[in-house]
Amino acid sequence: MRIFSGIQPTGRKHLGNYIGAIVQYVEGQQRAADAGDVAIYCVVDLHAMTVPWNPVEMRERVYDTAAILLAAGLDPEKCVFIRQSDVPEHTELAWHLGAVTAHGDLNRMHQFKEKSARQRDLVSADLFTYPVLMAADVLAYRANEVPVGDDQRQHVELMRDVAQRFNERFGDVLVVPELKIPSVGARIMDLQNPTSKMSTSSDSPEGTVYVLDDAKATEKKFKRAVTDSDDPPQIVAGDKAKPGVSNLVDILAATRGCTPAEAIASLADARGYGDLKVATANAVNELLEPVRARYAELRPDEAKLEAIFAEGAQKAREITVPVLQDVRRAIGVGPKPR
Ligand code: TRP
Repeated sequence: MRIFSGIQPTGRKHLGNYIGAIVQYVEGQQRAADAGDVAIYCVVDLHAMTVPWNPVEMRERVYDTAAILLAAGLDPEKCVFIRQSDVPEHTELAWHLGAVTAHGDLNRMHQFKEKSARQRDLVSADLFTYPVLMAADVLAYRANEVPVGDDQRQHVELMRDVAQRFNERFGDVLVVPELKIPSVGARIMDLQNPTSKMSTSSDSPEGTVYVLDDAKATEKKFKRAVTDSDDPPQIVAGDKAKPGVSNLVDILAATRGCTPAEAIASLADARGYGDLKVATANAVNELLEPVRARYAELRPDEAKLEAIFAEGAQKAREITVPVLQDVRRAIGVGPKPR
């Protein structure tokens, strides 16, 4: 069982990213290793150039993201941790896959429609072919499992179609991967606007808790979280009529690693929502403070981060170079196989 996932280079990873994706990465590296295989995690700098970007900031954000992931527990000894642009087989395979990708399918991608509508001047060809590069990321490793957020579902379905079409045409060269959507993180909602998912582009910055916020700021955001005016207060989970309270209970449970029912039971003596907010803030800080401390140690040592990427790229290419050789043979480019 081989896992592949990619993460955008931003230093602003929030609690939803942490619980929904990063925790699954750390769990996945162990699960893959236990199965005698490997998990590959990739900071996707090439995908970050599909919308306007600043070249100087790009490098910084890649380091930020790498340091967050390592601080959270990704272990370069256990997994393959790479920067996308360091492994040239991703871009080469993207070209080959483009030959079996329907233009019309790319045109139907929700993310392309949304992002292209937002561009003020240039809608780049790279934005359009974004899902082809994403398919190449995964297929270059013959990965079986792709843990991603629900917003990436359509891209993974496209990648499966592309792999199938390639294999139908050229033989059984690629592995058709499975989508894996984590159950918890998908549900982490904005603290100010608990019917929308927590996100970096929220209208109310107070509603988003960042991994790198300090403990005080985190506490403040939870204390101001929107709940409801039920009197007496009712601490419940999964109640659509009480999205703010349900969200806090979900966060409390996810950060403590218990069930929502256990989280509610632990608050049996609560006098009001204030106790729920404080308990949740404390649980989040308990989870994130060690990550923040390790981040502060790791982030300044860019030479070390580069060394980790270099080692990752080397391990990655042990997998991707032979796959690309098979692909080239199958499609008839390069020298005649002997
Ligand atoms: N598009 C993904 C996102 O925005 C990131 C990504 C790039 C990815 N390549 C990938 C995810 C391959 C999974 C597999 O979140």
